[in-house]
Amino acid sequence: MENLITLVNNIQRACTALGDHGEESALPTLWDSLPAIAVVGGQSSGKSSVLESVVGKDFLPRGAGIVTRRPLVLQLHRIDDGKEYAEFMHLPKKRFTDFAAVRQEISDETDRETGRSKQISSVPIHLSIFSPNVVNLTLIDLPGLTKVAIEGQSETIVQDIENMVRSFIEKPNCIILAISPANQDLATSDAIKIAREVDPKGDRTFGVLTKIDLMDKGTNAVDILEGKSYKLQFPWVGVVNRSQADINKSVDMIAARRREREYFQSSPEYSHLAHRMGSEHLGKMLSKHLETVIKSRIPGLQSLINKTIIELEGELTKLGKPIAADAGGKLYTTMEICRAFDQNFKEHLDGVYISMRA
Ligand code: GDP
Ligand code: NA
Ligand code: MG
Repeated sequence: MENLITLVNNIQRACTALGDHGEESALPTLWDSLPAIAVVGGQSSGKSSVLESVVGKDFLPRGAGIVTRRPLVLQLHRIDDGKEYAEFMHLPKKRFTDFAAVRQEISDETDRETGRSKQISSVPIHLSIFSPNVVNLTLIDLPGLTKVAIEGQSETIVQDIENMVRSFIEKPNCIILAISPANQDLATSDAIKIAREVDPKGDRTFGVLTKIDLMDKGTNAVDILEGKSYKLQFPWVGVVNRSQADINKSVDMIAARRREREYFQSSPEYSHLAHRMGSEHLGKMLSKHLETVIKSRIPGLQSLINKTIIELEGELTKLGKPIAADAGGKLYTTMEICRAFDQNFKEHLDGVYISMRA
C-alpha cells in the first residue's frame, strides 16, 4: 500500500513539473483528484511548527507575525536508506543536505515573488524531502488567516488570504489539518470556522490543538481532546511544539519530541489520552488515512489516469519527433509514471480479487 502513496507522490510531482504545458491536458484534473493534506489556521497558531514535527526536521521559517507568505507544497518521500536530502522544483539540479539552507531558500524564494514585504502570493513553492525517517505524505503549508491588514499590507489582504486558503481546502480531495491554539477559546478558532464551511460534516477535517503547554493555570483541554466541545469524525490530536524560546535556543527535534511524549504521559489530566497525542502519532494517523483515501478512490483515479495517458500520447504525437525536447521529455516521463501507476493499480486490484476469492 505504501507503494500507492509513492506513486501518487510521483504523479503529483510529474504534474507540477510539467507546469504550463500540462494546462491543456487532463493533468490539472488529475492533480486535483489526488489527495493532499493542507494545514489551516490563524496566524501563529502553530501551523508550520506542526508540519515540522510531523516531518521530524527543522526546515521551515517559523515565528511571530506573518512568516509563511506563499503556499508550500511539501512532498515527503520515504527512501530505504541513504542520507536525507531535499529538492526544490525551482532548483531542479540542486540537492540540499543542510536543512538550515532549505529554510533560507524558502525565505529567499518567498521574497523573490513578493519582495521583502509582508505581502502574500498564491504561487506555490514546491519542495520534496527524501528521507528514511518520513512517512509518504503530501502536505501544504499555507499563510495564516488574519483579521486586520497591518502596515505594509494591502487593504484586501485579509480576504486575499482567506480566498487562497479556501481555494486549496474546498477541493473534495483535500484533507484539512485544522490548527487551533489551546490558549484561545475554540469558539474563536479561524481553522474550525473555515473548515466547517467547506466540510460541514467533518469527514475530511483533522482537528489539532497546539500550545497545550501555554494554557491558563487551572484550565485544560480534556473536553476538546475527548471530542466533547466540538465533534469531528476523527479524534482530536493535542500537540506541544517548541516555543519561541526553544527555537532561539535551537532545541532539536528529537529532544522536542521526547519532551512532548513525556508531557502527555506524565500529566495527570492527559495521561489517559497519551497514546493518541503528539506529533508522531499525528504523522502516522495521517499517513494511514491517506492510504485509506487512495484505496477508496482507485477506480476513479484509474480511469482518470487512463484518460491522461491517452491525452499525453496524443500530445506527444502532435509534438512529433524529436521528443527529446524539454516539454516532450517531461510529457514522456509523466506518461511513463502514469503507466506504472496504472499497472500498480491492476496488480493491487488483482490482489483484492484473489483475497475475495480465498
Ligand atoms: P504559524 O504562523 O501558524 O505557522 O505558527 P508557527 O509555527 O510559526 O508558530 C508561531 C509561534 O508559536 C512560534 O514562536 C512557535 O515557537 C510558537 N508555538 C507553536 N506551537 C507551540 C506550542 O505547542 N507550544 C509553545 N509553547 N509554543 C508554540
Ligand atoms: Na507566524
Ligand atoms: Mg507558518
